[in-house]
Amino acid sequence: MKTTLTLAKADIGSIGGHIRPSRRLLDAVARQIKRRKAGLISDFYMSHTGDDIAVLLVHKKGKNARAIHKFIWDVFVAASREAHKQGLYGAGQDLLKDAFSGNVKGLGPGVCELEFDERPNEPFLAFAADKTDPGAFNLPLYLAFADPMYNSGLMLSPSMFKGFRFTIMDVSHVGADRVIELDAPEEIYDIAALLRDNQRFVVESVASRGTGEQCVAVSTTRLHNIAGKYTGKDDPVMLVRVQGTFPATGEVLQPFGIGHFVAGFMRGSHVGPLMPVRINSAISWFDGPPVVSCLAFCVHRGKLTEPADAFDHPFWDHVRDNVSHKAMAMREQGFSGCAMLPYQELEYGGIVEKMEALDRRFRIRKEKSAKTRK
Ligand code: F6R
Ligand code: MG
Ligand code: MG
Repeated sequence: MKTTLTLAKADIGSIGGHIRPSRRLLDAVARQIKRRKAGLISDFYMSHTGDDIAVLLVHKKGKNARAIHKFIWDVFVAASREAHKQGLYGAGQDLLKDAFSGNVKGLGPGVCELEFDERPNEPFLAFAADKTDPGAFNLPLYLAFADPMYNSGLMLSPSMFKGFRFTIMDVSHVGADRVIELDAPEEIYDIAALLRDNQRFVVESVASRGTGEQCVAVSTTRLHNIAGKYTGKDDPVMLVRVQGTFPATGEVLQPFGIGHFVAGFMRGSHVGPLMPVRINSAISWFDGPPVVSCLAFCVHRGKLTEPADAFDHPFWDHVRDNVSHKAMAMREQGFSGCAMLPYQELEYGGIVEKMEALDRRFRIRKEKSAKTRK
């Protein structure tokens, strides 16, 4: 029977602004999971990245299983009562609907899932990012699954010679999922043409063309589309199966050394470099910078090993320094040009009213006619 990994995240309240959840809130989430898990899941792991709590579940119920999604919803709803009780900031922020309706996608929490026959040893990575959006994973996924400059396995390992299939979602489409499948390496220019636009086109999944097996799943929620107004950025989570027929852990991690510029940062309206951080890190400077964490596990017969914190290594201290320099260089120019997102991505509605009011004050200057000028 297949094993399913479900990784869900929600911001249900934090201390001192959008910084990190309280210890008591994390305890409440763990308590709720333990209370409800019998007969449903075989293992779980809970962590936080910035103000988002991520819950990794292992089970046999498959993707989009109603019972699992209801479990996630109930856990977050019950724990958010604790957040309200404690007076945490933004308590229940990502729980956008009043009632469960079959799938937690579309209700606020971000979720991604992988279902597979366990290999004898099944290593995988669980990523979580804060103060950014799912497009933040576009470039690292392109580089790790389509570019031999980053993934030498594409040249060296026969099991990867056939390349990978990308499923890319148009997240601006509301109502139903609008997706396209493109194959690397033949269609890498088309893949790049879409993935350049991180706010519109987002990698939803990647599969091996050699075996047909899915190895990447990304949460593609747009809170904005669900709530119809600003509700925080869509801080994403991602699962990646690694090794063997898939890229090695280090090949998937390498692109995160770039600290590429992503959308998010303060008020979800800026551009900042993505900093790889240790698990359970908080947010700080200018409500940022945008951060990403990565836990590496093996799953065996439905049980998780302890996690290895993939960005907890001296190498990443150097990257973090570099990212801090990049962040400060960008912030020096404040609101100007590429330091902020384009108008339609500014997540605070106030700017719309301001622009409308200013628009009314513009006037067309009348050109003096040639006659009057004489
Ligand atoms: C960005 C984020 C924060 C808040 C900012 C203002 O995703 O969560 O930068 O936008 O702290 O928060 P509010 O509007 O709650 O005062
Ligand atoms: Mg928040
Ligand atoms: Mg967040």
